[in-house]
Amino acid sequence: MQRRTILSLATLAALPLAAKAADPVKIGFLVKQAEEPWFQDEWKFAEAAAKDKGFTLVKIGVPNGEKTLAAIDNLAAQKAVGFVICAPDVKLGVAINRAAKRHKLKVMSVDDQLVDGAGKPIADIPHMGISGYEIGKQVGAGLLAEIKARGWKLEEVGVLRVAYDQLPTGRERTMGAVDALKAGGMPAANVVDAPQAKTDTESAFNAANIAFTKNAKFKKWVAFGLNDEAALGAVRAGEGRGIKADAMLAIGIGGSQTALNEFTKPTATGFFGTVLISPKRHGYETAAMVYDWATAGKTPPPVTLTSGILMTRANQAEIRKQMGL
Ligand code: GLA
Repeated sequence: MQRRTILSLATLAALPLAAKAADPVKIGFLVKQAEEPWFQDEWKFAEAAAKDKGFTLVKIGVPNGEKTLAAIDNLAAQKAVGFVICAPDVKLGVAINRAAKRHKLKVMSVDDQLVDGAGKPIADIPHMGISGYEIGKQVGAGLLAEIKARGWKLEEVGVLRVAYDQLPTGRERTMGAVDALKAGGMPAANVVDAPQAKTDTESAFNAANIAFTKNAKFKKWVAFGLNDEAALGAVRAGEGRGIKADAMLAIGIGGSQTALNEFTKPTATGFFGTVLISPKRHGYETAAMVYDWATAGKTPPPVTLTSGILMTRANQAEIRKQMGL
């Protein structure tokens, strides 16, 4: 009798411990613009990694600095072991690193590399991003080829660079495009900068509108920016001013739903193409790397840069298949 009592007490005492041990590992995935299709896709693939590896993914939208730091505290309170982040401002790097260290959370950045006070990448935060300059050059090369196919004269084409230069990858991408165009003979004087306040379609639309007004001498345009939303904002602004598909040639970067929606419209718009990049790699691999780091001590490589491929209305289905999307 007495023995049985002791046993059951022991069993009872062990219960909370057992339940705790079985709790799944939690990994956070924090993104600056949760409403943007690219980030939705990253989350989708991070969920696939969670399913494969058996952890729980905690997705949080972090549109500003305050929400970012609150999200990190929240992850710690939930006993997460680490997180992947695309921050709303890369200059939050030091604060994010400090918060992660204080809570003993592993942190890795995706898309936008975090920098310190001097603007230098923070070395102890592993990063996965696109090779911005190279991909920008692909945008420029794609534009040149289509300018040629349409028989446009370079001198008469305005070049709209929707700019978000405070983000290094944003500047690299758009400068890559500018450099490729110039190398192909585009006069430097034709390049018009349209600085956007945020990296969404609306901000690009507003920026492009101002630039078109100030540069009415150009009747034909090419346009690009750091993502599909930037290119699309320019296309929509052009349409509003009578610069239609026959006079507008835009190539984005991304290849998520923003681009696909344009490609599936019954008639082609000025959104000619996009450089398809991989939300699968960025979402799946970063989440998996943070998991392996936190649970098996496997540190991710310091920097991983991914590539892209030009996709147009004509070849989109085939290209997306090739990329496993
Ligand atoms: C930045 C952009 C996003 C997307 C990613 C891809 O974060 O703001 O729209 O292009 O890069 O790395």
